[in-house]
Amino acid sequence: MMPLAAKTPPLPRPDRLARAAADTALMAEIRAGLAKPQKELPSRLLYDELGTALFEALTLLPEYGLTRADQRLLEQQAGAIARLLPERVLVTELGSGSGRKTRPLLAAVSRRAPVNYFPIDVSAAALDRCRRELLAEPEQAADSRGIHIVGLEGTYLEKLREAVRRRQPGEAVLVLFLGSTIGNFDRGAAKIFLWRIRSLLRRGDFLLLGADLEKPAAQLLAAYADALGITAAFNLNLLRHLNRDFGGNFALESFRHQARYNAPARRIEMHLVAQIPLHCRAAGLEIELAAGETIWTESSHKFTPAGLRRMAAASGFRPVAEWRDAEWPFCEALWRAEAQS
Ligand SMILES: C[S@@+](CC[C@H](N)C(=O)[O-])C[C@H]1O[C@@H](n2cnc3c(N)ncnc32)[C@H](O)[C@@H]1O
Repeated sequence: MMPLAAKTPPLPRPDRLARAAADTALMAEIRAGLAKPQKELPSRLLYDELGTALFEALTLLPEYGLTRADQRLLEQQAGAIARLLPERVLVTELGSGSGRKTRPLLAAVSRRAPVNYFPIDVSAAALDRCRRELLAEPEQAADSRGIHIVGLEGTYLEKLREAVRRRQPGEAVLVLFLGSTIGNFDRGAAKIFLWRIRSLLRRGDFLLLGADLEKPAAQLLAAYADALGITAAFNLNLLRHLNRDFGGNFALESFRHQARYNAPARRIEMHLVAQIPLHCRAAGLEIELAAGETIWTESSHKFTPAGLRRMAAASGFRPVAEWRDAEWPFCEALWRAEAQS
C-alpha cells in the first residue's frame, strides 16, 4: 500500500461563489434572528478559528463529560460497530470538528477494506486539524493505513450530497453525527434534518448518531457554565466573529455568558446577557438591547433512548444497536436506512 501522505490530496480550494452564497444565507439568518423579540444568532457563528480552538478546550473540562463519554463509547465499541456494517463503506461525518473521536472507528472499518473518509464542517480550521491529526500521530498513522481523507468545507446537507455522490460501486455510506450536535436543532427541526439525511441515502446505508441523554439540571448547568470560563469565552467569541465578518460593533465587555436549563423543553440554552442598555449594529441592522436582555446563541437538547428510537422510525431509519456510557449518560445509536414513507 502507498504511504498515506502520498495518497491524500490537499483539501479542495473552497469555491468562491459557493462561499459567497453561503455567506449571504448566513447574513439573512443573522438579520432574521436579531429581528425576533427574543434575539437569536445562529450557533454556526461560534465556530471560527478561535471558536474551534475554544470548543476543543472545553471538551477537556472536568465538568463537560459529554465528549469523553462519546469517545469512550467509540473506543470501546469500534469493533462491534464495524462488524454491523457492510465490508465496504464510505464514511462521512457531519460537523466533524477535529475528528479525534472518529479515529478508532475509522481504524476498525479500514482493517477490512480501504475507506474513504469525508469530514464535513463549516470551519476550515476544524477540517485542517482533522486532516493533520489523522495523518500526523504516529500510532494513528499506522492505524489509519487505508484511510483516504478529503475534507468538505461547507454546511451539512450541501456537503453530504457531495460526499454520497462519491460513493463507489458496491459501497454503502455510513454517516456519523457525533457529539450530540443533533441537540443543537429544535426537536421539530431535528426530525426534519434526519429525514433529509435519509433522503440523501439509499436503503442499507447507516447513520451513527451520538446523543446526550437527560441528566440532572445541576450537572448540565455546571457543564455549560464551567468555573474556568472557557464556555463563556466560546460564547462571547461569537460576537467577535460577528463584528469581524458581518459588520458588527458589539462591545464584548458589555455582555455576560449565561447557561439556562429549560426544563419543559429539556434543553440547555446559552445566552449572552447585555449588562447595560446598548445600541449595536450588525449585518446592516441597528439593534437596541435593554439591560438584562439576552441574545440566544445555542441550544443543546437532551434525549431519552426511547425518544431517539422514535426519531429513527419517524425519519426512515431502523435502530440496529445502541450503546450507553455508564459514567455520563450518553447514547451511541446505529441506525439503518429503510424505506421512507
Ligand atoms: C458541537 S461541535 C461537534 C464537533 C465534533 N463532531 C465533536 O463531536 O466533538 C459542532 C461542529 O459542527 C460544525 N458546524 C456547525 N454548524 C455547521 C453547519 N451548519 N454545517 C457544517 N458544520 C457545522 C462546527 O464547526 C463544529 O465543528
